[in-house]
Amino acid sequence: MSTPTTTRPAASRTSADVSARLLRSAAKKSYDPAVDIDWDAPLDPQKTWTPAHRVSLYGTELWDALDEDQRRELAKHEACSVAGAGVWFETLLMQRLLKDFYDDDPTSDRAQWALTEVADECRHSQMFARMTQVAGVPSYGPVPWVRAMSKLYSLVTWGPSAYATILVAEEVLDRLQREQADDPDVQPLMRQVNKIHIMEEARHVSFARAEVADGMAARSRPARAYHRFATAFVSFFIVRSLIHPGVYSSVGIDPKRGRKAALANPHYQEMIRWAGEKIVGFLDEAGMVKGPGKPLLRRAFLLPRRARRRAPLAR
Ligand SMILES: [Fe+2]
Ligand SMILES: [Fe+2]
Repeated sequence: MSTPTTTRPAASRTSADVSARLLRSAAKKSYDPAVDIDWDAPLDPQKTWTPAHRVSLYGTELWDALDEDQRRELAKHEACSVAGAGVWFETLLMQRLLKDFYDDDPTSDRAQWALTEVADECRHSQMFARMTQVAGVPSYGPVPWVRAMSKLYSLVTWGPSAYATILVAEEVLDRLQREQADDPDVQPLMRQVNKIHIMEEARHVSFARAEVADGMAARSRPARAYHRFATAFVSFFIVRSLIHPGVYSSVGIDPKRGRKAALANPHYQEMIRWAGEKIVGFLDEAGMVKGPGKPLLRRAFLLPRRARRRAPLAR
């Protein structure tokens, strides 16, 4: 067996230490969205659900052709689409956490934390679903074939790749939510939802980062290569599932046309890179950003595209 050469990222603590601390933190401060959110407060029709510059078509000709009401409508559908992707991935995460709990000593801090996180994610998924219902928007989630394929998620990822992909979903969402939580132009309900999610996700991120660091440091070279590729593969679908093509129908744009314009939109590509900046930096430090999965991270816009080589000037 080859000796692991990946080092743990600096200043990281082991998963067991982290679990004990997180259990104390969760006991002190957790939220129940059913009572901590004012679900009956009237919506402000002039407020947006996500800032215009975070809408996938922002800056395109399709965006320029929309009036203000249509832009707010599309922003609402995209905000709920991102929440729907959150529900989808939280459900996959809960399956992973329950499998880990099943294999662990239930009295250990790590196992106790796994159940605590499942409880958090149950409340989050209910919160996102209820927000979508209040917004009057369809429940989007991933496209059907990705939803069907993702039933294999907990078979093809475990250990570092499971927690690395969870981090991609959590941290990309978190960066978008942090920007919106204090934005006075964003719908108050959306801001309340974001604040609760940000607070509780910070604990999940600490746990998952420790799991990735521990897991990669303990594995052989071939195993690390597998987890790297699995992480890139799943991350591609996470990012692609944030905006469901059906959102464009809400403003009369053909879903295929809208999707194509969004994926070609440099502004949207840069938004994804920005949202994934911190987690990609961490994954790189943990030795997870190299090898054959790297082009997938580029295609997902989590890494900048390579600059095209210029043809040599003719003499
Ligand atoms: Fe969550
Ligand atoms: Fe989470």
